Amino acid sequence: MALRFAVMGNPIAHSLSPFIHQRFAEQLGIELSYEAIQVTDENRFASTVADFFGRGGKGLNITLPYKEKAFALAARNSFASTKAKAANTLWMDEGKLHADNTDGAGLLKDLANYCELKTKQVLLLGAGGAARGVIGPLLAAGISQLVVVNRSPEKAFHLQLDFPQIQCSPINDLKINFDLIINATSASLNSENLRLSASLLKPETLCYDLAYAKNGSTPFVNWAHSQGIVGVDGLGMLVEQAAESFYIWHGLRPDVRAVLAELKEGQND
Ligand code: ATR
Repeated sequence: MALRFAVMGNPIAHSLSPFIHQRFAEQLGIELSYEAIQVTDENRFASTVADFFGRGGKGLNITLPYKEKAFALAARNSFASTKAKAANTLWMDEGKLHADNTDGAGLLKDLANYCELKTKQVLLLGAGGAARGVIGPLLAAGISQLVVVNRSPEKAFHLQLDFPQIQCSPINDLKINFDLIINATSASLNSENLRLSASLLKPETLCYDLAYAKNGSTPFVNWAHSQGIVGVDGLGMLVEQAAESFYIWHGLRPDVRAVLAELKEGQND
């Protein structure tokens, strides 16, 4: 019987994870099923996870809005999910629920295609779950400065309690320009513009959006392009974080580039 995997979240209908994991499995000759499970009632998240593993499920990806709940549910959390206080990958081992967070590793892998992070000055926009998941790996990658800006400043200052190395600032107080600007807000998901100042940019700044658009570009990537700057969306990160989860479950590394190329083709249709 095929090994059973799934992604849980709400909404989930448009998740690309089933497609990505099926492609990885085909590449490596693994027979599996990977479904998208919508959990509409947050009070039923824990019982739905328990039911999935109780029926022999092998691995779960967890997406919005349940990453924090997945972290809290696990008996064993990795270093990454402990730092992020959020998990996107679950599996059972010796009867215990294990959790990891592969978002940060996925981001770093994709960023490596575009820039070297060592000694770079980085601006992170947003202070929600997505931002929290990538701060630890960015700091560990040897960047020289990480400034976090958030629409509601108090939420950014809360992050500082967990990550004392970051600096938080109101956006209008920023007097420097950055090598890398990462959009970890959910603005792109709602097709909203962030109204950023061009003074944050250098000619060689890379703008990276953790979000992606199914067709075309996100508003943040469009803004970068309008400023003559390289802008990249989070499709590469999505495939890379999936590959990290796949490795945790199967111990095998899929060919990320082939799947990413296929998804990018779909974006241009
Ligand atoms: P996620 O898990 O995707 O990070 P979240 O925890 O709800 O989702 O956080 C969303 C983030 O996007 C927050 O930092 C939010 O800012 P607030 O804390 O002020 O709400 C930010 N955000 C969403 N829409 C935004 C917008 N239009 N402009 C600026 N920031 C926005």
